[in-house]
Amino acid sequence: MNNPTVKLVQVTDCHLQNDPSQLYRNQDVESQLDQLLAHLKSTLPEETLLLLTGDIVHHGGPDAYRRLTAKLASLPFDTAWIPGNHDDADLMQACGERLNRKVIQVRGWCLILLDSTSEPDGRGSGALGQAELAFLTQALDQNSDRYCLIVLHHNPVSVESGWQDPIMLADADQFWRVLEPYSQVQGIICGHVHQEWRWQYKGVDVMSCPASSVQFKKRCDEMTLEDVPALQAPAYRLLELSECGEINSQVKRFNLAEDQNISSV
Ligand SMILES: [Fe+2]
Repeated sequence: MNNPTVKLVQVTDCHLQNDPSQLYRNQDVESQLDQLLAHLKSTLPEETLLLLTGDIVHHGGPDAYRRLTAKLASLPFDTAWIPGNHDDADLMQACGERLNRKVIQVRGWCLILLDSTSEPDGRGSGALGQAELAFLTQALDQNSDRYCLIVLHHNPVSVESGWQDPIMLADADQFWRVLEPYSQVQGIICGHVHQEWRWQYKGVDVMSCPASSVQFKKRCDEMTLEDVPALQAPAYRLLELSECGEINSQVKRFNLAEDQNISSV
């Protein structure tokens, strides 16, 4: 049956190490991701598009990307990814054109995938930069007859945090200025913050997704790991894009011990 709804799943901030046995902030992030992907494979329809939204590896080298591309090849999902501040964009580009698509047209929608890792400040910040903003303008001009969802790593909206706001999207003002004339932009998804948010900002549905690795506690002045057990689990975000431009979305948190969702928000 031809279902007009576009189904997406967002997985973000995996922070894979080059050596899979090495922990990230005391967590076995490799095995967490393996379990999460196996769960997605067994629960989501094959037509789901998987989006990996940056910090895929944590200062990792080619081995981490090689392992991940092998895992992705075993899934039924079409997949695309973007880099985060911890990624190596050149190594990602070397993994093939399909994973690195920047525009995906699907039914009445256009997904625009952006690289926000320009102008790094060494603390985690990143910007789109003039070339990526020009690309965004061109992509929006060329897809004026489609609803658009923009995908980027860095949050373009404040998360009210003393340590996270200084490393949000550095050129967020220019980004929002570019979007202003384009009423077809229905949603924006990002990673980076390792926590869940959903805002209506300047008329756009903006969503962040918790990580598949570890979560950060909201509204803190310095980096603080999440301490609420129900919010510590690896997570992902489901999205359904309707043919009339609506976005239905929810975050799922994955219980590693029981191999099931423990909550949805
Ligand atoms: Fe991250």
